[in-house]
Amino acid sequence: METLRSEALSDVAYLTAAVLFILSLRGLSSQETARRGNLYGIIGMAIAIVATLTTTIGGASLDPHPILLAAIGGGAVLGALMAARVGMTQMPELVALLHSFVGVAAVLVGYSLELHGDGPGDLKTRIEIYIDVLIGALTFTGSILAFLKLRGSVSGRPTLLPMRHWFNLAMLVGSVGLGVLYAREGELWALAGGTAIACVLGVHLVAAIGGADMPVVVSMLNSYSGWTASAAGFMLDNDLLIVTGALVGSSGAILSYIMCRAMNRSIWNVIFGGFGAEPAKPAAGAPAAPQGEVADIDHETLATKLLEAKSVVIVPGYGMAVARAQHAVRELTEILRGHDKLVRFAIHPVAGRLPGHMNVLLAEANVPYDIVLEMDEINADLPSTDVVIVIGANDIVNPAAEDDPTSPIAGMPVLQVWKSKLVVVNKRSRATGYAGIDNPLFYKPVTKMLFGDARQAIEKVVTVLRTR
Ligand code: TAP
Repeated sequence: METLRSEALSDVAYLTAAVLFILSLRGLSSQETARRGNLYGIIGMAIAIVATLTTTIGGASLDPHPILLAAIGGGAVLGALMAARVGMTQMPELVALLHSFVGVAAVLVGYSLELHGDGPGDLKTRIEIYIDVLIGALTFTGSILAFLKLRGSVSGRPTLLPMRHWFNLAMLVGSVGLGVLYAREGELWALAGGTAIACVLGVHLVAAIGGADMPVVVSMLNSYSGWTASAAGFMLDNDLLIVTGALVGSSGAILSYIMCRAMNRSIWNVIFGGFGAEPAKPAAGAPAAPQGEVADIDHETLATKLLEAKSVVIVPGYGMAVARAQHAVRELTEILRGHDKLVRFAIHPVAGRLPGHMNVLLAEANVPYDIVLEMDEINADLPSTDVVIVIGANDIVNPAAEDDPTSPIAGMPVLQVWKSKLVVVNKRSRATGYAGIDNPLFYKPVTKMLFGDARQAIEKVVTVLRTR
């Protein structure tokens, strides 16, 4: 009776946690509700942990082991420290590293079940263990390499081995063969062999992807980590893990697809490590030399142009994040709106270094949500815009994406800022952006360069405007 009551309670707790995770994902889909979404996720996870630690399974109370409690406590402190210390621009590497933890955890749980499970497992259990360990190992090594690439410790250039697709196919066939052997005979060496192949496959798949596609890779690895957790749920007979893993897996896959569309990349190309990629194209790490003359603008003249304008569009990019210029940008926005100017923000889907990077920074600086527009919502308005200020952005406003079919970013949708009446580009130098390619926008007659650190530059414009 006691057991039944406890199982029913844990079912209710798991269901509540699953619903909270769904609400969390829904909340995170828009900046107005993101904070609430995060809160739902935290509450859901707290319920899931407490329910797991206190569940009575088959009459035997799952007594929380001191090592388990120490691991949870240590992990929580480490996680909080990492989250507090990490800069917004280092977020993608942190996320990649966290995915690797999910992968290695799945591998360890799989092996522990195989080595310490109750007697020899049945066919179903062995299949579950094999799939869990395989996806976990692939996620682990792939994420570690992604982390090193994003950190700059390893070159961002794609490593395209000759016959690499045959190599991938051979590894796939080999791992299926070993899986059959392990599932039928329970041979431990076959599981170890499958794990080794998956580790190599993870490195090989991520190594074949160039720097410019890394955001999609991180989101794909996020998806893999979800499927790993789901596989672990089947292995451990834990419904909540299955549901949560499937939520993470599918939302990561959807995000990858959206990002691929925003960068005009094929998702299959990313999944199969550079399938169909043209090796001749330059990638990140091979900066191009500037090819033209640029015209400058000073802070006084820009302030005058802004006061003469009716409509202003601000395009933030990675440089705004580096300079932490978002508060100065908000001040500029307030002043211009105070002068009855129509001020809006144009956000490219891959501006910055992680999805929603610019939205988060602008929200942190209290920029009103309703003037922050997506690329598709604002591109058509740019030809009628008087002044566009590009703050620390480069690739996302590069006309070569539309004009030059040989460009590495050819076909990537960009913000067509050059169609406006005046474009002011603020950056520190004529250096290239993430994709490492020159930007013809800088040499267009409509463009003026405001050189300098974004925060200092915008603060100077704000100071001038306050005196007018
Ligand atoms: P980028 O093309 O990387 O350009 C950023 C520009 O900011 C640089 O050219 C740099 O020029 C300037 N900058 C750096 N520090 C600055 C500072 N303190 N003040 C002023 N300017 C500064 O950035 P973007 O236009 O935002 O495009 C994003 C790129 O990153 C895309 O290629 C995208 O594919 C890639 N990416 C995106 C993501 C996601 S998911 N968003 C993740 C990884 C990579 P100077 O050095 O001359 O100042």
